[in-house]
Amino acid sequence: MLLFSPPVWLFCLIKLASLLGIGAQYTPDWTSLDSRPLPSWYDEAKFGIFVHWGVFAVPGFGSEWFWWHWQGEKNQKYVDFMTKNYPPGYSYPEFAPDFHAQFFDPDQWAEVFASSGAKYVVLTSKHHEGFTNWGSPNSWNWNSVDTGPHRDIVGDLGAAVRKRSMHYGLYHSLFEWFHPLYLSDKKAGFKTQEYVFRKVMPELHGLVSSYKPDLIWSDGDWEAPDTYWNSTSFLAWLYNDSPVRDTVVTNDRWGAGCSCKHGGYYNCEDKYTPGQLPKHKWEKCTSIDTYSWGYRRNMMVYQLLDLPTIIDDLARTVALGGNYLLNVGPTADGTIPAVFEERLRAVGQWLQVNGEAIYASQPWRVQAENTTVPIWYTFKGKSVYAIFLDWPSQYSLKITTPKTSSLSNVTLLGYPKPLKWSALEPTGLIVTLPTMNMGGAHGWTLRLDGVA
Ligand SMILES: *[C@@H]1O[C@H](CO)[C@@H](O)[C@H](O)[C@H]1NC(C)=O
Ligand SMILES: *[C@@H]1O[C@H](CO)[C@@H](O)[C@H](O)[C@H]1NC(C)=O
Ligand SMILES: *[C@@H]1O[C@H](CO)[C@@H](O)[C@H](O)[C@H]1NC(C)=O
Repeated sequence: MLLFSPPVWLFCLIKLASLLGIGAQYTPDWTSLDSRPLPSWYDEAKFGIFVHWGVFAVPGFGSEWFWWHWQGEKNQKYVDFMTKNYPPGYSYPEFAPDFHAQFFDPDQWAEVFASSGAKYVVLTSKHHEGFTNWGSPNSWNWNSVDTGPHRDIVGDLGAAVRKRSMHYGLYHSLFEWFHPLYLSDKKAGFKTQEYVFRKVMPELHGLVSSYKPDLIWSDGDWEAPDTYWNSTSFLAWLYNDSPVRDTVVTNDRWGAGCSCKHGGYYNCEDKYTPGQLPKHKWEKCTSIDTYSWGYRRNMMVYQLLDLPTIIDDLARTVALGGNYLLNVGPTADGTIPAVFEERLRAVGQWLQVNGEAIYASQPWRVQAENTTVPIWYTFKGKSVYAIFLDWPSQYSLKITTPKTSSLSNVTLLGYPKPLKWSALEPTGLIVTLPTMNMGGAHGWTLRLDGVA
């Protein structure tokens, strides 16, 4: 109970101060913005789903870079595909009405994503083609409300994702390959900012105010410096005054040279896979379809990440302090291909048993060893977790890093009884694994309590 309630004038004063920008914590420069602590939900979440969806799902050929390969680069493979399958003079925007999304059921998508064990979902609100998956007033007739699905995809998916207690993030491409204002700014050597002031800033502010994203996954920054994008000014507003200032997380793609250096957490390059523990919070984004982020109608099973690879990648990423953002590309009809769904549900089954070693864990003093089989270590509370992907050929597992004592004990997650073990000198232990049928499983976790 409050002993006395603060008077109304105090609230008014605080409000006035914030309107005047008094007490604004962050100034629009990297030194200040980079000092902002990352909201804690993000590091604890560890695992998210990335969704690349847009008009590119209609040709569903090559990748989400279809338009660029076809008409920017004039790549022969894409030119031939169009000549063969579409009437002469067909233009990319003509694909939009066929982005029907007639089977798009946001609740069903959210159920699939939640079943994977993911704690956040990041949707492409706008990819490099410029098509906005919400009814942007700055993208007339090139958005999902005016044409194609005729619905607010960003809003509808967000509501469903949040209903299942996952965080909701929005991918946003700064540049658009063929936007006339962008092209004229580019021609002026990025000395003019018409595109940024008339397109990017209104849309980014609108997205944040309307959908209150927990994460902004910025991309498409690399052709121009952050001063052209007005990034620091946007981020200062986002962190000081926006409705998501306390919760929002951002990445590092805010202008040429920013990646791996400035922003919130670091993506560095796509599918970034560091060899050792980075000093800064990072995220690996990768795609189940190893050839593309967007849907391809001609993808083959051998081109996809299999379950053991995904689990290994997830364990490795988390052991090295990263988050793992796994991508699926839905079809233009609005379905998640069954093979993606199957992978996601299987990761979820693995996390149901082994998630204790993943969620809210931290990197341990050692991240990996490979004595009997490769092991990834994580750490939480008083437990050290040793994740291994290959069941050893003998029923004992020798590990050399942990220092045991007479109080130590060893548990296999998902197995009811503590395991027998014996200490090694000077460090390490030999664990006797159960002789149970581990059929079908991929990846196990030992919890080591009372070790150093
Ligand atoms: C762009 O950045 C400048 C300098 O920080 C700022 O004064 C201006 O208001 C920003 N413009 C927009 C549209 O955000
Ligand atoms: C682990 O060691 C085995 C045997 O020396 C080797 O073949 C394998 O590549 C190693 N794995 C890793 C992840 O280092
Ligand atoms: C295992 O060790 C931890 C830490 O020493 C202790 O809290 C826990 O009670 C032990 N469990 C068993 C079953 O001995």
